[in-house]
Amino acid sequence: MRSIAIVTGASSGVGREFVYQLCGGGGGPLDEIWIIARSKDTLAKMAAACEKPLIRPIPLDLTLDESFCELEAMLAQEEPCVQWLVNSAGFGTFGSFGDVGSANADMVRLNCLALVSMTSICLPHMQPGSRIVNMASIAGLVPQPQLATYSASKAFVLELSRMLDHELAGTGIHVTAVCPKFMRTKFLDKPGDSEAAGAMTRIGFEDVGHVVRTALRFSVLGYHVSLSCLDMQLAALAAKLLPRKTLFRIEDLLFGRCGKKERRVKSAL
Ligand SMILES: NC(=O)c1ccc[n+]([C@@H]2O[C@H](COP(=O)([O-])OP(=O)(O)OC[C@H]3O[C@@H](n4cnc5c(N)ncnc54)[C@H](OP(=O)(O)O)[C@@H]3O)[C@@H](O)[C@H]2O)c1
Repeated sequence: MRSIAIVTGASSGVGREFVYQLCGGGGGPLDEIWIIARSKDTLAKMAAACEKPLIRPIPLDLTLDESFCELEAMLAQEEPCVQWLVNSAGFGTFGSFGDVGSANADMVRLNCLALVSMTSICLPHMQPGSRIVNMASIAGLVPQPQLATYSASKAFVLELSRMLDHELAGTGIHVTAVCPKFMRTKFLDKPGDSEAAGAMTRIGFEDVGHVVRTALRFSVLGYHVSLSCLDMQLAALAAKLLPRKTLFRIEDLLFGRCGKKERRVKSAL
């Protein structure tokens, strides 16, 4: 039986780095890597650049139901063993909930719904030793006003990963949620409110290669969360202990949102 990895969000950033590291043997031997994103040309170029394992470009929009039917049919026809499923497709829009508008629902569609559909389709093709890696975010552990829907979508990914990992105990299959802080990818190219995004990136950036290497290692070890950065481990602990109101006040101070809020209230009066 052919052993494959499936990577969503493979055309850019973290997903592309997963493809490169899996290609380089970072996830053990593989016959094929199926790479999914909308950018057909980029996927084709990536496929042409690697001979072994074979890379199969699958251009799909994961917000459309028919994409999952197509993938389900491919898996049913070819019956490979899905050794790795990496759910990396996702995006975030900064700003108040009202300003973010229809992107709120789009984020839930891609960050949550697509991940659930991918997991449901791939799980029946997994065996002991298979792994699911879900891109969550530090925002899933430390909730972020001005990034509310994104933050809530990543909390969903994190909790789903933890619960599914528990449900799968004894099957030899593990689920790992990856919770990095910011990384220099296309993620911040269209931030929505760039002032809010700029303020939040004061927490600093992580290296994509390091995040992916740690995630693969933690996943092989069967950890359900991959948190590769010490300051974010402390932030996650603080978020667990502090009442939400206090946490949000600290974040407002840290990200310079207090004056802005007062200005908004004054102009509304
Ligand atoms: N970068 C960060 O600072 C950061 C921090 C924490 C967590 N994360 C998470 O890490 C994951 C990867 O983000 P990234 O930093 O690699 O961002 P990125 O460079 O913007 O990559 C996003 C990927 O998702 C794909 N995608 C977007 N919409 C899609 C759709 N409708 N259907 C299929 N694929 C779609 C994009 O490809 P196409 O445009 O070709 O479709 C691209 O390959 C996301 O889940 C993100 O939330 C990122």
